[in-house]
Parts: sequence; C-alpha cells; structure tokens
Amino acid sequence: MIKIGKINFPEFPFLLAPMEDVSDPPFRRLCKMEGADLMYSEFISSEGLIRDAIKSKKKLEIFDYERPIGIQIFGGDEEAMSLSAKIVETVQPDLLDINFGCPVKKVACKGAGAGVLKDIDLMVKLTKAVVNSTKLPVTVKTRLGWDEKSINIDEVAERLQDVGIQALTIHARTRSQMYKGHSDWNYIARVKNNPRIQIPIFGNGDIDSPEKALEFKNKYGVDGIMIGRAAIGNPWIFKQIKHFFKTGELLPPPTLKERIEAVKKHALWSTEWKGERTGLLEMRQHYSNYFRGIADFKPYKSQLLSTLSIDELNTVFHTILKEKDIH
Ligand SMILES: Cc1cc2nc3c(=O)[nH]c(=O)nc-3n(C[C@H](O)[C@H](O)[C@H](O)COP(=O)(O)O)c2cc1C
Repeated sequence: MIKIGKINFPEFPFLLAPMEDVSDPPFRRLCKMEGADLMYSEFISSEGLIRDAIKSKKKLEIFDYERPIGIQIFGGDEEAMSLSAKIVETVQPDLLDINFGCPVKKVACKGAGAGVLKDIDLMVKLTKAVVNSTKLPVTVKTRLGWDEKSINIDEVAERLQDVGIQALTIHARTRSQMYKGHSDWNYIARVKNNPRIQIPIFGNGDIDSPEKALEFKNKYGVDGIMIGRAAIGNPWIFKQIKHFFKTGELLPPPTLKERIEAVKKHALWSTEWKGERTGLLEMRQHYSNYFRGIADFKPYKSQLLSTLSIDELNTVFHTILKEKDIH
C-alpha cells in the first residue's frame, strides 16, 4: 500500500492535478465527492506568499473534507521557497508539493517551474531547502526535461529522492512541448523500473477515459494516476474510472439533470468562496465543458454566460429543465 507521510492511499490512487484558476476549493469539492483520492491546490508563488500577496494567501485555504490535500508552491529562490514552506505548514495540509513543471513563460523563463529543469543542481538545492524547512511530507511534480534533447527525468528522480521527497509526479512531456503533442509515458516507466527508485511514482498526461487509465496503469506500472484537463467539466471521471477498474463496465455519461445539479453546486460554492459576482464570472469558463455533447445547448449556453447571480443561474436551469421536459 502506498503511504505518504500519514496518508494511507487506496491500492491505486487517482489524483486531481493542480490547475491554476481551476482546482480551487469549489471544484475540488466536486472532485472529492466523485472519488478523487488526493487533490492539490493551484500552484502558489513563493514570492507572493512571502510578500503576503492576497491572491497567494487565498490559495492556501483548505478544508477538512478535502483531505488528503496537498499545497503546491513554485519559485526559484532558496530562501523564498524555504520561508514559503514554513508558511504552508501553518495551514497544515497533508503534504507540500513543489512545482518544477510549469511551462508558461512568466514562470519558466524566470527560473521557476519547468525553468528549474535546466539546472538540476538548483532543483536539488531548492528541494532540499523545502524539505529541511518543514515537517510536512514534500513531493514534486515535474516534466521529462526542458526539451527533447535534454530529457533528464531519470537523474532528477534519483537526486530528488536522495534529498527526501516522498513521491514524484511526472507529466510525460517536456517544457518545449507545453501541452502539445502526446505525452510519452515510456519515460515514466523507465523511472519506475529504476531499482534505485523507492518512492511512489505518479503518472500524468492525457488520461481522459477509464479505458486509457487501465491501459496506462498496466503498460507503464505507475503507482497512481493524476488527471487534469479531463476532469474539467467532468469531475465524474474519477468515479467512472474506479467503476471501470472494479467491474470492467463503463458507467453511462451523466444525464443533463446530473450536470445541472453539479454546476449548481459548483456555482454556489464558488459564490460562497469568492463572492457572487466574481464566483459567477469565473464559472463562465466551465459551462462549455460541463455541457459538452448535449444537443441543442448553444442558446442556453449564451444565457448561462450572461448570469451574474445565483438566482439568474437557477432561472436558466429551470427553463432548460422545463423546455426539455426533465423532472
Ligand atoms: C488550466 C491549467 C492549469 C494548470 N495549472 C497547473 C498548476 O498550477 N500546477 C501544476 O503543477 N500543473 C498545472 N497544470 C498542469 C496539470 O497539472 C497537468 O500536469 C497537465 O494538464 C497534464 O495533465 P492532463 O493531460 O491530465 O491535463 C495546469 C494545466 C492546465 C490545463
């Protein structure tokens, strides 16, 4: 059985990926209800944390029903990372994750996120600084390397294990790939098969169906799977995969009514957490995903996109159910 710190996982855990502007407490709550075994905060800037930035502080909010939950930080400065680890410890997550995978320019080109993949010595130093600053279990999420010519995940895994990380999640792309092309899980399997590697290795990249999850589990031998984009608008994916693993059968897709119920909850929790206006503005990015594949939904989508209160949102849903004759 996999154990990280005090967390005991089910035999094969499914993780919700940290996703900026997506994996906030309202979304995490839905994923938890649908079976996510471990979730992470959005990534938090270590520089922001030590400067007490409101945006960074807000991302530290976690709730007991989310456990086990990890908080993810990023940065390229040892002292800032070390101080941030101490700040993170005050809110007592179940683990602290370091992001060495973010490919976006404003992060990676400032020597943080995936930028650190260019300098393994620095990566090791930053990780050591974090491990030594906290009693929390420290994990890392990273990519295969900076680009195709400099894939260094084998060395990264060994050296980070040696400085005390307790699990490693590998997104099987390089930084140059951003989110394009395919992830190549052969590299993850190579790390997993390295006899020196004792820590759990979680695989990440492009898992979007129960069948693919099972195929990749069997083919690449990872200790668990992390899911990102496929959970956006589809928190049911965790339940769907688990059901398939157990029974070999696929659950039917959620009905329109179930989707509406989920969006209602998501929107309500968003407004409770962020305020009604901001909560609903931020919900707009989610509607297309929740209702993907529903026939003749376009007119309703534009109505949803103009709502600025929970009452207005509920009115649109009421109309949809009435016009589609769903009770
Ligand atoms: C909108 C979005 C935001 C993301 N933000 C983060 C982040 O804050 N931290 C992180 O480690 N990865 C972040 N990622 C990367 C995901 O965690 C994940 O590694 C990637 O999407 C590949 O997994 P998938 O194919 O299952 O989506 C983000 C991805 C997306 C699409």
